[in-house]
Amino acid sequence: MNLFDGYGRKVSYLRISLTDRCNLQCFYCRKDNLIFYKKEEILTIEEIKFLISVFRDNFGISKVRFTGGEPLLRRGIEILIKGLSNSNLSLNITTNGILLKEFAHLLSENNIGVNVSLDTLVPEKFKKISGSSDLKRVIEGIDTALQVGVKLKINTVPLRGINDDEIFDLIDFASSRGVVIRFIEFMPFVNELIWKKYYVPEDELKSIIVQKYRLYEIDQDGSTARYYELENGAKIGFISTVSKPFCHSCSRVRITSDGNLVLCMFDKFSYPLKQFLRPKIRENQLIEYISTVVKLKPKGYVELKERKSGFAMIKLGG
Ligand code: 5AD
Repeated sequence: MNLFDGYGRKVSYLRISLTDRCNLQCFYCRKDNLIFYKKEEILTIEEIKFLISVFRDNFGISKVRFTGGEPLLRRGIEILIKGLSNSNLSLNITTNGILLKEFAHLLSENNIGVNVSLDTLVPEKFKKISGSSDLKRVIEGIDTALQVGVKLKINTVPLRGINDDEIFDLIDFASSRGVVIRFIEFMPFVNELIWKKYYVPEDELKSIIVQKYRLYEIDQDGSTARYYELENGAKIGFISTVSKPFCHSCSRVRITSDGNLVLCMFDKFSYPLKQFLRPKIRENQLIEYISTVVKLKPKGYVELKERKSGFAMIKLGG
């Protein structure tokens, strides 16, 4: 059985946040006065594995991505990844790269696709964005991962006045390593004034890039990004949730680390799944509940009355 929402969109991609803790404090992601989940509130590794098997076996989900916070901080992630190694799923993770060096082998051996967030190559700017002095670790993490054969992409959020003068350096950094870089539009998950100050739309970024290179649109891989090749062979992508929303083709649902199903990042609502896991598993009711609530997936970002998410990015993991 496949899972369809109320607008006939097939849901085939599950993103699971493994933790709401992070070892960085990026200003575009964090929220003040956030209360973190207690240990007993978050899903256990066994519960996560069970939910993945429910989505795969009953709903034909083919792709899973682990997010955070920072998913590599989650205790037991090694057991989770190894336990899914023969799961017939495309398994992926989005990481800030701080712990990538330590986990590179695990990710490579288990064929986990890795998206690394990298917004700058300048240590002072990295500090300004994330509060951390560990940029070197991220870059070493990327290089170690590539050496051991990890499938890797780089994600960059362009930020006005911070990294918009580094676009070519970032493109060169990625292409010299044979890696695709995707520019993700800053989404309004924080204070609106901050968002307005730093948001750079795709078209503006493109107008900077075309001053130096011609852009050739290339085959799309069915993802939310649109890809281009530059004259020099570099491959870049744009994920433009704000200026060019792709809601009509959205195939995603998310689960927060405390077990709530989120149908749209910009929604106000989420749907608790833990009630079907504790005190004991009620699989049939869980399946029925998911099939029912998925019909409530909002049509899209543009149609939402209030384009203000009920969620903190750090709890959704992008
Ligand atoms: N807008 C766009 N991307 C964001 N991320 C975090 N917060 C935002 C935001 N407000 C991205 C990170 C990373 C992924 C986890 O989500 O840069 O690539």
